[in-house]
Amino acid sequence: MTTDVVILAAGEGSRMLSELPKPLHPLLGKPLIEYVMEASEPLSEKSPVMVVGHGADLIKDNLGERVRFVEQAELLGTGHAVQQAEELLSGHSDLVLILYGDMPLIRQGTLKLIIETQGSHEGPMTILTVESANPRGFGRIKRDSGGNIQAIVEEADASPEELLITELNAGIYCFRSDWLWSSLKKLGISSSGEYYLTDLVSLAAEDGLSIKSVLAGDPEELIGINTRVHLAESSQILRKRINQELMLSGVTIIDPSSTYIDPDVAIGRDTMIYPNTYLQGNTVLGQKCLIGPGTRIINSQVGNSCQIEFSVIESSLIEDGVDIGPFSHLRKGAHLGPGVHVGNFGEIKDSYLGKGSKMGHFSYIGDAQIGADVNIGAGAITCNFDGKEKHQTVIKDGVFIGSDSMLVAPLEIGENSRTGAGSVVTKDVPPDTVVVGIPARQISKKKKAT
Ligand code: UD1
Ligand code: CA
Repeated sequence: MTTDVVILAAGEGSRMLSELPKPLHPLLGKPLIEYVMEASEPLSEKSPVMVVGHGADLIKDNLGERVRFVEQAELLGTGHAVQQAEELLSGHSDLVLILYGDMPLIRQGTLKLIIETQGSHEGPMTILTVESANPRGFGRIKRDSGGNIQAIVEEADASPEELLITELNAGIYCFRSDWLWSSLKKLGISSSGEYYLTDLVSLAAEDGLSIKSVLAGDPEELIGINTRVHLAESSQILRKRINQELMLSGVTIIDPSSTYIDPDVAIGRDTMIYPNTYLQGNTVLGQKCLIGPGTRIINSQVGNSCQIEFSVIESSLIEDGVDIGPFSHLRKGAHLGPGVHVGNFGEIKDSYLGKGSKMGHFSYIGDAQIGADVNIGAGAITCNFDGKEKHQTVIKDGVFIGSDSMLVAPLEIGENSRTGAGSVVTKDVPPDTVVVGIPARQISKKKKAT
């Protein structure tokens, strides 16, 4: 059986009090609509149809070709919203799954179950329901004495008796496509001036058609985002899910409540995450690392057996056995080879440090290519910017940079050379040479080890 997916996202989201359309509000680093997309995209061969209204242009820009968009010019209710997709979808798939763009916690497995349930019965629709004593304004599921679903009653229209019903309409449905498109035409306008999608339930019941339901196992999945309070609630739930999944896959998290890991982060076994740590974007950490406390790693790759403490790492590549911190900052394009050591108060940008090189204290390395086993003394700096342009520094294998050396780029320092403490190096240094002073000049040739 084939299924089309329709996502309703035309609502105003007025309670967000925001210029940003609600579906684009970030949740753990990604627009919240992205979670609904990821849960529903694999359920159909074809791209989902999204009904948009408020903020349509920005939403379209954000999702692009992944979605077929239809516009709902006037917000006349959920039934009217679905009608906008009729022209595109009528006569195509066997089933239509309908869900909202503001329920980011919904799991793919739940959606699959609704589709499977609808696929295996004769009736025209399957609805997802949830049992809860806290109705949050949801519609009530009305059943007859035999347990057959008769209607969904909106809170505004419910009698005091109906208000006591604890089985609620989650707002996710799967329909037999032919029945959906012909029945939507029969929807009447409600007392609030809207066309309710939920009125399809009583239409079906009146025709004696059977309606199936799937009871949600985890009510948290159905939290809809209407305010920024809901956004924070959702982010907490999502974080808990991510942390639990990681712990069950062999990662130690000392204090999950203060550990913020984005959904696309991957972490190897026996890595230990200390408190107050943020792992963001598409960061990948290897096995047996010690990360944190107090560390933020964004869009970076970290190898096995690395240790990073109280540091910030952005868009960097860190190979195996590296240790960093406390209090260092790797910026975009930092690449540390195996076994590199970066100690206190180091900053590295667009630079490579070769195997086993060390910069222990107070250094800035920018736009530099540094070989293996180089020692960068305390306070040494690449002066990579002349006020107009950035220039490269090349430091070959085995070089010893004395404390407080200023390396004025463009500059190349040959293999196994040394700079004296406090020297200002303005000219290239040949291999095996010692330079000192301001500006630095050669004082000796190093003896080659025999
Ligand atoms: C709807 C259901 C209610 C259910 C609840 C679950 C109806 C009539 N009621 O309530 O039974 O318990 O969802 O959350 O369907 N939207 C549009 N165009 C519109 C109106 C809404 O695209 O004209 C979209 C919104 O962007 C949102 C979704 O539909 O994503 C739900 O709209 P909302 O107003 O929150 O639904 P309710 O009427 O509160
Ligand atoms: Ca609502």
